[in-house]
Amino acid sequence: MTSADAQPGIGLIGCGVISECLLGGASLAGIRVSAVCDSDRERAGRAAAACGARAVSEAGGIFGDSAIEAVIIALPNDAHYSAAMEALAAGKHVFCEKPLTTSAADSLALARKARETGRVFQMGYMKRFNPAFAAVKARLEQIAPLTTASLRLTVSGDPKLEGGPGTPGSWHSDIQRSGGGFLVHSGSHLLDLMMFYFGRPEAVWGSLKRDVNGNEYSNSFLFRFEGGLQVALQMAQTRAQGLGYAGSVWEEIVEVNGVNGRLTARGADWMGKIPARASAHLADGDGPKDLFTYWESQWAEELKAFVEGVRQGRCLGSTVEDGYRVDYILDQLKRLEAEAGPVRLEYAL
Ligand SMILES: NC(=O)c1ccc[n+]([C@@H]2O[C@H](COP(=O)([O-])OP(=O)(O)OC[C@H]3O[C@@H](n4cnc5c(N)ncnc54)[C@H](O)[C@@H]3O)[C@@H](O)[C@H]2O)c1
Repeated sequence: MTSADAQPGIGLIGCGVISECLLGGASLAGIRVSAVCDSDRERAGRAAAACGARAVSEAGGIFGDSAIEAVIIALPNDAHYSAAMEALAAGKHVFCEKPLTTSAADSLALARKARETGRVFQMGYMKRFNPAFAAVKARLEQIAPLTTASLRLTVSGDPKLEGGPGTPGSWHSDIQRSGGGFLVHSGSHLLDLMMFYFGRPEAVWGSLKRDVNGNEYSNSFLFRFEGGLQVALQMAQTRAQGLGYAGSVWEEIVEVNGVNGRLTARGADWMGKIPARASAHLADGDGPKDLFTYWESQWAEELKAFVEGVRQGRCLGSTVEDGYRVDYILDQLKRLEAEAGPVRLEYAL
């Protein structure tokens, strides 16, 4: 960047489903994306037209462009590793959609490479920027000491058939390309949120169920943290429709209990089109209170943080190390099907 106010040149790689959220967020935040890339030329053209960028069909067209200082990687999960490595080698700052990669070993290598290059690397765990989930984080001290917490997600789906989002035959449902089913696609967000709130868990117990394609579709885990805090993570798919306060297909609930109060946050869709809600019930208060009544886009906020982070030379969102830790825990959780817990969690970073 040439001046304190200038925005880094940004290129987007991957113009599928999530790119619409990201380009919508960028537009809301006043962030300009100057080049977009997709191997599907039609998709690239559509995205380019939507944001006034130039379109290319090969990522090299972005990595080789010296005006592009930062890249947003929104590719299928199995393409994150090589794209992010190439971006770092080309000296670009990186915003990478979740999960970081499809294995803890690759994520560790990537996190080490990012450290070595000193580039800013932010993960696309946008729930940290959702005002309801952020409100819980901001008030944890008020209810401390913390005793128990739970993160629960229920979505309408067919437990027999579905392991993840997307149409049958897409990479989303192919465990080799996605790295896993519901737990990887959606549980990765909850694990990032859990560590955002409470730090790194020390051990975990639990179990998961898999569908006919090998994709996990429901699970219950109990994490133990230093100091004795216990956090439950429960995810389920159900054929029931009309979930939660919005009667949608998605219900996400975070509850944190402390000696001095209780915090809750509820989400009704992953895109954030339906405002999530948070409330606090404090020991020294006079009853439960809504923590906020406004709404701003989580996509805009996470991209604002990325651009500001590039300006400051440090990551202001979920870091590449956070991305590695989520993938490490996911690898451990996948082993739980065969092993009864507890599994001790021993991080390399
Ligand atoms: N943050 C969230 O809540 C969230 C939600 C959905 C998806 N995601 C993540 O975003 C990523 C993309 O998911 P999606 O649902 O948008 O997938 P998608 O399949 O809709 O889009 C991926 C795009 O990448 C293109 N592509 C594939 N290989 C390419 C290559 N080598 N070069 C250029 N283009 C290539 C495809 O043509 C496609 O348009 C995944 O990592 C996914 O986990 C995140």
